[in-house]
Amino acid sequence: MRQVAILISGSGSNMAALIDDMARPGHPARPVLVVSSEPGAAGIARAEAAGVPAVALDHRAFAQRSEFEAALQARLEAAGADLLCLAGFMRILSGSFVERWRGRALNIHPSLLPRYPGLDTHARALAAGDREAGCTVHELTPELDAGPILGQARVPVLPDDTAAALAARVLRAEHRLYPAVLRRFAAGDRRPVLLSFPED
Ligand code: GAR
Repeated sequence: MRQVAILISGSGSNMAALIDDMARPGHPARPVLVVSSEPGAAGIARAEAAGVPAVALDHRAFAQRSEFEAALQARLEAAGADLLCLAGFMRILSGSFVERWRGRALNIHPSLLPRYPGLDTHARALAAGDREAGCTVHELTPELDAGPILGQARVPVLPDDTAAALAARVLRAEHRLYPAVLRRFAAGDRRPVLLSFPED
């Protein structure tokens, strides 16, 4: 049984989708900890309501990134985590931290990588005139949003889309994709999960 820690910074809707799926019988992983980089994140209460221990580690309370990461690592070890899921975690982790978790850490990104790494993915997809958008789950590597792809879900871009409308459509796809990838990955299967929601 893999022991999963989920890192968040915000509402935690992907975290909730992962926790819900792990509660189903026969799942090869269980959630042991949620860590938020933002003390006020709605995801903290959401994790606690689901019975998963949750802590806030305010990055502003640490003078250096290395100190924040040492505190994070200590929490992860104390919880017995052996698999990390970044779910809307908006801090960049250092190369040395990521190396320590290589092969044991996943991230979800709201674009069809390799298109649009970084921020403002939906506005950039609309500005480019893309007819299709989506999300990607990939292995965490030191280069931002560039690790091996473990799954993608595609949604249409609709004629009058705004970035907010597209983000909401992509987020619904994220909630389907991330649990499917975690389930497979935790069982030792790295074949990519490919989903498409053309009617959404
Ligand atoms: C999600 O759309 C996720 O893909 C994105 O933040 C949102 C978090 O929502 N992540 C990134 O942009 C990472 N660079 P959530 O807190 O409701 O899961």
